[in-house]
Amino acid sequence: MGLVTGKEILDKADKEGYAVGAFNINNMEILQAIVNAAKLENSPVMIAVSEGAIKYAGIDYLTSLVKTAAESTDIPIALHLDHGKDFKVILSCIRYGFTSLMIDASSLPFEENVAETKKVVGVAHPLGISVEAELGRLQGVEDNVSVAERDAILINPKEAKIFVKETGVDSLAPAIGTSHGAFKFKGKAELDFERLKETKKLTKIPLVLHGASSVPKEILDQAAKYGAKIPGAKGVPTGQIKKAIENGINKVNIDTDLRLTLTGAIRKVFYESPEQFDPRKILGPARDSMSDLVRKKMKLLGSSGKA
Ligand code: G3H
Ligand code: 13P
Ligand code: ZN
Repeated sequence: MGLVTGKEILDKADKEGYAVGAFNINNMEILQAIVNAAKLENSPVMIAVSEGAIKYAGIDYLTSLVKTAAESTDIPIALHLDHGKDFKVILSCIRYGFTSLMIDASSLPFEENVAETKKVVGVAHPLGISVEAELGRLQGVEDNVSVAERDAILINPKEAKIFVKETGVDSLAPAIGTSHGAFKFKGKAELDFERLKETKKLTKIPLVLHGASSVPKEILDQAAKYGAKIPGAKGVPTGQIKKAIENGINKVNIDTDLRLTLTGAIRKVFYESPEQFDPRKILGPARDSMSDLVRKKMKLLGSSGKA
């Protein structure tokens, strides 16, 4: 069917009260795993491409792969730039046919974040491309930080209302206590649901949860069994992902769980079949495992059957 916009996918999710996964890709096998899962689950999906992924694989290769995937099915698929920081990369994504762009100016002061986001909305919206922005900082919030420190890191819902009105963004990523990667919490994993609830009430647009991998024990155990050393890894418990969706999250970003799954599956082949050197026998099982993972995520998010 071709690519659809992020807005089309997320407005429906918002109206119907579920979330859609945005899964990061770096190569063909990861993309195929995600799209295969979306087909089996009859689920809409967003394919997330970071600036790092573009640097690694090339924007031409990645967009061709995603367009080919979208043309192979009627499942709604959006091609999304994840954490766009460089305006030149954003323009290049527009030229290559991305249907959704994230401008991440969250490290800048509020007014500069507004200005950068407005600049992207100004070029994207006339072309029918959706825009996501971020407010607050994605970093671990320890149990013992002061109220002032917490306020400095996490989203301020009143600011979010002004931000959405001034920028015209289609979706917003509020910092509510998650962080990227496999080491999200030193102590108790607890997101700030009050801030999330208030942000949704005041902005009334689709909200995005970054750093949403759960780092499941069974995936860590599998990787460790075959030699991985990732001590202290901890993610967002699935119960909190569900609660976040109940309180207004409509897009859930997952990369780390894919990476861990791929690592475990590849290690298993190397461990059990040291004579193996056919890339299809090495990457094929990883692709299958990632597809199973994505299917489970789609069920959890409530997007299964919503295509
Ligand atoms: O936001 C982080 C995503 O996991 C992408 O990571 O920048 O290493 O590609 P990356
Ligand atoms: P994880 O590192 O938790 O998978 O988060 C990915 C993400 O937020 C991509 O934007
Ligand atoms: Zn992110």
